[in-house]
Amino acid sequence: MTKPTKAVIPVAGLGTRFLPATKAMPKEMLPLVDKPVIQYVVEEAVRSGYEDILFVTGRDKYALENHFDSSTALESHLEAKGDLARLRQVQEVSELGNIHYVRQGGARGLGHAVHAAHSFTSDEAFAVLLGDDVTEENSDLLEVMTQVHMRTGANVVALVEVPNEEIHKYGCIKPSGAEVDGVIAISDFVEKPKNSEAPSNYAVIGRYILNPGIHHLLANQAPGAGGEIQLTDALAKAARENEAGGVVGVVFRGERYDAGDKLEFLKATVLLASKRDDLGPDLMAWLKDFIASR
Ligand code: G1P
Repeated sequence: MTKPTKAVIPVAGLGTRFLPATKAMPKEMLPLVDKPVIQYVVEEAVRSGYEDILFVTGRDKYALENHFDSSTALESHLEAKGDLARLRQVQEVSELGNIHYVRQGGARGLGHAVHAAHSFTSDEAFAVLLGDDVTEENSDLLEVMTQVHMRTGANVVALVEVPNEEIHKYGCIKPSGAEVDGVIAISDFVEKPKNSEAPSNYAVIGRYILNPGIHHLLANQAPGAGGEIQLTDALAKAARENEAGGVVGVVFRGERYDAGDKLEFLKATVLLASKRDDLGPDLMAWLKDFIASR
């Protein structure tokens, strides 16, 4: 089985959870330390072997397109000043992968956004990365998922175990067997179940490897939770009826944050800064004093 190389990143969401910061700025451009959230996600795709990246965008996302494009004026300015370190940083962003864009045409759900990529992905398997989910910078989750996909031929979703009171925030899986070496076969999904009705504590997070057959399921998918076309519903059909290769999960036990949630965003900022040589030691010393003084 050939290794997939295309990644789809839906970025058409309105970012209402972060208003007013996101009134005039895409939520994907909110900075975690000194890089926008979306850059961490693109870097993860590229380091996992997904060089061809499609952003599924919407209105008012120009800042995002500009971020991954070269900026002649800024580069000339930095070069003239001799600020070569910053010049390199700026250039590296525009050299990350081959970035393509398609407009979603209305915010009709994650399934709708993924299906908007069908011409781009054509008859190849592809990865989907959701911009809100940020994993630790050296995480090999996507690579492990890719290996599992190549071994099984199945659609692969990333899972985390969450406490029962949090499961209503996620897509939830029904396992069809025990977890073996971090991999679990899936027989069904429920999008945002009531805590009392969740079939497991395994929550889907925003990393997927999908077979091209998922597009056929999405094209015929009726609106589900929230009146939106849900990727989870198409995956549920693939799992229940063993269509498009069936579905397995890879359980992730590393650090991961929902950068669309304010508290998680703050935690992600501290985590990422704490690991930086230029910021970590001073930040940690300050945090200890700060906590001791409360
Ligand atoms: C989406 C998916 C959901 C998944 C979540 C992970 O939901 O529909 O199944 O658990 O991403 O972040 P959203 O967060 O867009 O509501």
